Amino acid sequence: MSVNVAIAGATGAVGQEFLTVLAERNFPIKQLRLLASGRSAGKTVEFRGQTYTVEELTKDSFKDIQIAFFSAGGSISKEFAPAAVAAKAIVVDNTSAFRMKEGIPLVVPEVNPEAIHKHNGLIANPNCSTIIMNVPVWPLHKVNKVKRIIVSTYQAVSGAGAWGLYELEAQLKAYATGQPIVKEKFPHQIANNIFSHNTKIAENGYNEEENKMVQETRKIFNDPKIMITATCIRVPIPRAHSESINLEFERPITPDEVRRILSKAPGVTIVDDAASNHFPMPLEASGQDNVLVGRIRQDISREDGRGIELFVSGDQIRKGAATNAVQIAEKLI
Ligand SMILES: NC(=O)c1ccc[n+]([C@@H]2O[C@H](COP(=O)([O-])OP(=O)(O)OC[C@H]3O[C@@H](n4cnc5c(N)ncnc54)[C@H](OP(=O)(O)O)[C@@H]3O)[C@@H](O)[C@H]2O)c1
Repeated sequence: MSVNVAIAGATGAVGQEFLTVLAERNFPIKQLRLLASGRSAGKTVEFRGQTYTVEELTKDSFKDIQIAFFSAGGSISKEFAPAAVAAKAIVVDNTSAFRMKEGIPLVVPEVNPEAIHKHNGLIANPNCSTIIMNVPVWPLHKVNKVKRIIVSTYQAVSGAGAWGLYELEAQLKAYATGQPIVKEKFPHQIANNIFSHNTKIAENGYNEEENKMVQETRKIFNDPKIMITATCIRVPIPRAHSESINLEFERPITPDEVRRILSKAPGVTIVDDAASNHFPMPLEASGQDNVLVGRIRQDISREDGRGIELFVSGDQIRKGAATNAVQIAEKLI
């Protein structure tokens, strides 16, 4: 079955990746409508050998559209996704606008594909750091319940949008040529630096990204009691987020058992070569859909054998956004 597809935010980092992923996976598209702000209206984009003209997103953009991918920011989703649903499109939304709303499925297809079909016209794609953590933790949780997760992230600049990449590149170029380094959108210099994730700090002292990892994982795992604490950090890496993950299980578990489970887990590639010190790296995760998992080891800080350490890298524009959304759409059709 071929469907009519719209992408709202088609000129952005995630929007452009949608085109790559849809083409690679040979998604059955009858008609494609590319939508962005008025600034981009009239621009042309190539897709599968055809030229498409970007249109300005309006509430009338969704006539005859069956699947609408949204990646233009939360406020745009809040304003325009209801119009798409009213036009009978099914929206797969990449923003945080609807993720925690009751009755809206929040889906990682490797974890809770059954939730997809409970939609009322709208399905939310989780936060990118959440997806990258959930893909390897879920298959372990199914075998031996994870009681507590302590995660620290190392997040790429393109996670903030295409502008994040331009800002890093401009600052690195200025540094290399001895020019003054100009800060534009990030709150601090990102070249040769790292800083706490550039989202607002909430009343509980955690930033929005950290709170998303906690709340969204509980919803996706359907486990409101799982204990999670996160520290999210922006690093001067163009693409692919990495995460250090400490897991506390209900029962003792060994690194060999973890390796055995993860070697069969969908969406996971084990990169754990201690002899050559080769472990997950953002450079190698970039451009692929699987989450790379390594540094699999027993947590030596506890004697009960219930702790495991992991280090993971995953492409946040692909599996953390576009690929996950396209996988959802594939299951829909
Ligand atoms: N980047 C990631 O790794 C990532 C991962 C997961 C989720 N997300 C989420 O996905 C969304 C998009 O992120 P991104 O990184 O792709 O951002 P981006 O590179 O900044 O792209 C934003 C897109 O939204 C469009 N847009 C902005 N204002 C608009 C308006 N008033 N009307 C219509 N379109 C408008 C832009 O169009 P113009 O080009 O015309 O301005 C552009 O196509 C965000 O909610 C983000 O949190 C991003």
